[in-house]
Amino acid sequence: MDTKFSRDFTWGVATSAYQIEGAWNLEGRGPSIWDAFCQIPGKVAKNENGNIACDHYHHFEEDIKLMKNMGVTAYRFSISWSRVMPTGKGKVNIEGIDFYKRIIDCLIDHNIEPWVTLFHWDLPLALQFENDGWLGTEISNIFAEYAKLCFEQFGDKVKKWITINEAWVIAILGYGQGVFAPGRVSNDAPYLAGHNLILAHAKAVDVYRKEFQPTQKGIIGMTNNCDWREPKTNSQADINASERALEFFLAWFTDPIYFGHYPASMVNRLGGRLPKFTIEEQKLIKGSSDFFGLNHYTTLFAEDSGGQIVKSSVYGNGGISEDQDVNLSVDKSWKKTFMGWAVVPWGCKKLLKWIENRYPQVEIVITENGCAYDDKLIDGVVDDQERLNFYRSYIQACKEAIDEGVNLTGYFAWSFMDNFEWASGYEKRFGLHYVDFETLERIPKASAIWFKEFIETNKD
Ligand code: GAL
Repeated sequence: MDTKFSRDFTWGVATSAYQIEGAWNLEGRGPSIWDAFCQIPGKVAKNENGNIACDHYHHFEEDIKLMKNMGVTAYRFSISWSRVMPTGKGKVNIEGIDFYKRIIDCLIDHNIEPWVTLFHWDLPLALQFENDGWLGTEISNIFAEYAKLCFEQFGDKVKKWITINEAWVIAILGYGQGVFAPGRVSNDAPYLAGHNLILAHAKAVDVYRKEFQPTQKGIIGMTNNCDWREPKTNSQADINASERALEFFLAWFTDPIYFGHYPASMVNRLGGRLPKFTIEEQKLIKGSSDFFGLNHYTTLFAEDSGGQIVKSSVYGNGGISEDQDVNLSVDKSWKKTFMGWAVVPWGCKKLLKWIENRYPQVEIVITENGCAYDDKLIDGVVDDQERLNFYRSYIQACKEAIDEGVNLTGYFAWSFMDNFEWASGYEKRFGLHYVDFETLERIPKASAIWFKEFIETNKD
């Protein structure tokens, strides 16, 4: 790395409840849509599930010690909604509340700041049945009630809140392509789900700002994911296609938050298929984030389709890609991770600059960046040099963006440890710590050791 990051830059690791906790039916936890989805044969690789996962429920103290050993000062995790409210509304499960209080206290004892995500995909199953999940008319109000419970119970100690993780994934993979829970396949449902997710975010923020922020003094934002879309050629058509693709991916959720309305490209192309916000809702949504949470993993070429969409599930085409008229592809020379995602650090820098350009001086926090490899434990060691190079090059790209004026203030590696990688099961290892899923032993990989040294050098 050429130069150092500022001393107050946040270095953290991230996880989410369903991917690590296990204890799926213990101490009053209600089922979530991911518990149910995993029961459907063929939905998850090897029909695996998160019933035990990393058993973080019983190992959290050990895990927090490992974080401390890594030198991180922040830990991003999510609350399992159905652990604290088994049916999603109404009755509260005190054992679930106590579990998160113990985690928060343990983090603070170790000088690690909790960054809490309220919703990382594991919707209480009761809300899927009773309210049609994210398509239901009441869901945003129900979410705001759950958020209120969390602010009440944890807000004296939690000062960093993320409402929703990756609305794009929930809408497109959960309600469009059906590859994630709840498994719906539709061309229109993603836009309604997305609409309700934005409203849910804004209503939760409103509750926080009115009832808690003045005394608790924390900050709150939403985390959205986006790959970079590089124009395939320098033709104006491809340049426009890449812009459109970024609007259909990221600005779909962030334009309402910063401007109060959807991007013009979506409004024009979707017409009546895109729901509308009322004037009151627009007021509620605009300005509803104290920071811009970004999850970033990869880059693809974008090419104007001229109405001829090439179907390719590998590159995420199909479904709504007709709506954007963009074909996606990769450069054959790009290295790929075990997920098949291209390693393109300059794409990260370009995306950060695109965000800065669209929403000037917004405070950005990378709440996830990382990679999966086929890690092997050999003689007690996991020598994950590819991951180490990935982190080095992406963090260097972040530094360059900062030097060119981007207001990036934090970076969280995905993930603290290997875990349940949704429809890919346990084979895709994203962790800085290797988890032996038989013995549940955790072992720091070479990348975790590198991270520790790297964070140390940025302290002075
Ligand atoms: C993100 C998600 C994480 C993790 C990661 C790697 O989309 O928020 O839960 O699975 O991708 O695929």
